[in-house]
Amino acid sequence: MLYYLTMVENNLSPSAITTNLETHFVGRKVIYYPTLTSTMAVAKQEAQQGAAAGTVVIAGQQTAGRGRKNRIWLSPRGSIALSIILYPGLVYLPYLIMLSSLAVVHSIEAVTGLRSQLKWPNDVLVNGKKVSGILIESSLRGKIVDYAIIGIGINVNLKLSDFPEIRLTATSLSDELGSEVSQLEMVRRLLAEIERLYLALPAAESIYREWRDSLVTLGKKVQARSGKTVYQGIAESVARDGSLLLRHADGSLTKIVAADVTLSD
Ligand code: BTN
Repeated sequence: MLYYLTMVENNLSPSAITTNLETHFVGRKVIYYPTLTSTMAVAKQEAQQGAAAGTVVIAGQQTAGRGRKNRIWLSPRGSIALSIILYPGLVYLPYLIMLSSLAVVHSIEAVTGLRSQLKWPNDVLVNGKKVSGILIESSLRGKIVDYAIIGIGINVNLKLSDFPEIRLTATSLSDELGSEVSQLEMVRRLLAEIERLYLALPAAESIYREWRDSLVTLGKKVQARSGKTVYQGIAESVARDGSLLLRHADGSLTKIVAADVTLSD
């Protein structure tokens, strides 16, 4: 009997990532750790020491990965965990979440053929389950952006049955596809997409529109939980600063900057 083995490229060494990478500055410098607490922490140190724009910190696995609101982000081997250091102008800061989300959607589709959707504010879903999360952290001095860090986690080759704590709400590319995916190809595509969209920021309106039109949240009845406050209504739109516009049953409108959203239908 013949066995056919599919070999996928999962070597995330700096040279594997940077060789012939189709970018001008994103990913030209890559700092790789097989195991790290969080790429956000190291990227922050690098940024404070003036790392070049586009420097990438990437980990084979994280032991203290952080999600939004300081939640734990599981990133075992088989997932992608990386942070990118940038120095955007203040006006472009709200667009980082939009362009990163779109870059993840585009790269997933380019590498795997899978279609993904966005759930406000920062979740990428495949078949209704979270496959990727994005965290933006920045340091401001008045109106000057000291630095901004885009943190991206993608569940690439994980068996969600091994992670009962997130199994119901999360998925991975390999679970959806039924075969392993090249982490290297995903990372290289992602970096190229981030740079392409970042360089297009002077035309930020088109990034905003594509992001808005990709949100599965819009037009849906939702519950948005922000601290102890729970808002209910129809997710009507998103503003250019990234906030959610929620229409209540009495016709009033609330602008929500940060919340956890559950789709009610
Ligand atoms: C979220 O959905 O809450 C955001 C998750 C962001 C996870 C990524 S993985 C790479 C980077 N390092 C971290 O510790 N967090 C981000």
